Amino acid sequence: MTFFAIETLTKILYLIAAIFFIYGIKKMGHPESARKGNVISIVGMMIGILVVLFFPVQENGIAVHESREINFLIFFIIFSCLFIGGGIGYFSAMKVKLTAMPEMVSLFNGFGGSCSMLIGFGEMVNFFSVAETSISKVLISIAAIFIGSITFSGSIVAWAKLSGFLSGFGKSKFNFFKPVLLRVVSFLLLFFILLLAFFIIKGEFQSIEFHTLHLLMLFLVISILYGFFFVAPIGGGDMPVIISLLNSLSGIAACISGFLYDNQFIIIGGILVGASGVILTILMCQAMNRSLLNVIFGSFGSKQSRQQVQKNQNCQEINLSDLAMQLKYAQKVIIVPGYGLAVAQAQHVCNEIEKLLEESGVQVSYAIHPVAGRMPGHMNVLLAEAQISYDKLIELQQANEQFPDTDVVMVIGANDVVNPDAKENSSSPIFGMPVLEVKLAKKIVILKRSMASGYAGIDNPLFYQENSAMLFGDAKKSLEELKSAIREV
Ligand code: TAP
Repeated sequence: MTFFAIETLTKILYLIAAIFFIYGIKKMGHPESARKGNVISIVGMMIGILVVLFFPVQENGIAVHESREINFLIFFIIFSCLFIGGGIGYFSAMKVKLTAMPEMVSLFNGFGGSCSMLIGFGEMVNFFSVAETSISKVLISIAAIFIGSITFSGSIVAWAKLSGFLSGFGKSKFNFFKPVLLRVVSFLLLFFILLLAFFIIKGEFQSIEFHTLHLLMLFLVISILYGFFFVAPIGGGDMPVIISLLNSLSGIAACISGFLYDNQFIIIGGILVGASGVILTILMCQAMNRSLLNVIFGSFGSKQSRQQVQKNQNCQEINLSDLAMQLKYAQKVIIVPGYGLAVAQAQHVCNEIEKLLEESGVQVSYAIHPVAGRMPGHMNVLLAEAQISYDKLIELQQANEQFPDTDVVMVIGANDVVNPDAKENSSSPIFGMPVLEVKLAKKIVILKRSMASGYAGIDNPLFYQENSAMLFGDAKKSLEELKSAIREV
């Protein structure tokens, strides 16, 4: 095959891979087709990888190594990495709990960022040995190192915060790491990064220059440190939004690497990840009625906001037989699932209760808040796992219209997303966040283990309302017992 034919074939295959990507993402837009969307995108990625491996077209022709042994060695290394990396990815994804998904996504973002960082660094070192290098390639490599490094270290910090490894930051022995100080350090680092980038770009690249290589290494280290200091002051509570932001950065970093190799496939893939990450970040901020700047510079869900919780009012409790009776003789019941339902893994028993009630002629639906749980679509995935029909799921606005003529609302492990303060108390940290107005229903029953606050660390006046009652205990255990009680009515 001629060089021209190979180049054309490569471009056509890249285009096909990109179509698979775009179609896959479209399918991921609905829970019913999301699985198919994933498979379609995987096929697209496989096509891309195989094309890169078998048709490594370069500017000056086809990159075929002179020695067959080297060729085999490269293939062996690449396939071993694919096999080992793919295996680790597969098994960790199969093993991960749904509640630990944000941590996992964060780690994967970090790995993506580190790839772009290493590619940028490797290419810069290569440029030192090339007679002439275009300034645009140098700029692209510097950008890949910078954005890739922030994504890498920022994601590791986000992972550590979510996993509780960095929870000691607010404590006295870590006073040095106070948020304000961390921000000052991060601004200083940014200044250094810009200065170093200027000197590196200004440098001569005709031969390996000892000091330029050192500047580059310093640039890499400070960029990694910057990612750490950028994410460290942000409240643990805001990590899901930051993970989404870092996800979009990993896409941008990949896209930049694509420009480095003139590879349309990596560019398209990177743009898709970058754009979807940005859209998701905006949607999450909108659903919490907060700006991205407020997320980055605020300290939502931090220890300070948790201290504001005051529990000086009394709440009513309900027993299982009373609740079973109320549910069984209701005409309309709405279930509001939240993070606690996911923690307790109570989705299956929830489905069983729904079936029992429907057998008695009760109309049951599920009100889904866009940020219920800890990641976008958390509740949809959870309920889909328990085979709960999609037509039973109602969105925020529709649910709010239905609450006034609902007999019983059962809030299972949800807290912030049903907090009336978001609408009524202008001094509340969640004021303005659209919430499920369950307080309008005739009766509200809240299933949780204690009077503890939710993610935002604030008290919930819903618990003390006249028409509210608490059923304390682990959601799964409470629902199992409720199921038996309903059968006995
Ligand atoms: P939360 O406000 O976090 O409340 C969850 C409640 O579940 C807690 O009050 C907890 O109370 C209870 N719980 C925990 N384990 C339980 C168990 N085993 N059994 C029964 N109850 C249990 O959850 P939410 O209402 O779903 O709100 C989500 C929050 O996350 C919002 O503030 C939202 O802004 C934030 N957030 C979400 C996202 C996305 S994309 N979903 C992203 C960023 C931020 P007890 O400890 O007393 O049981």
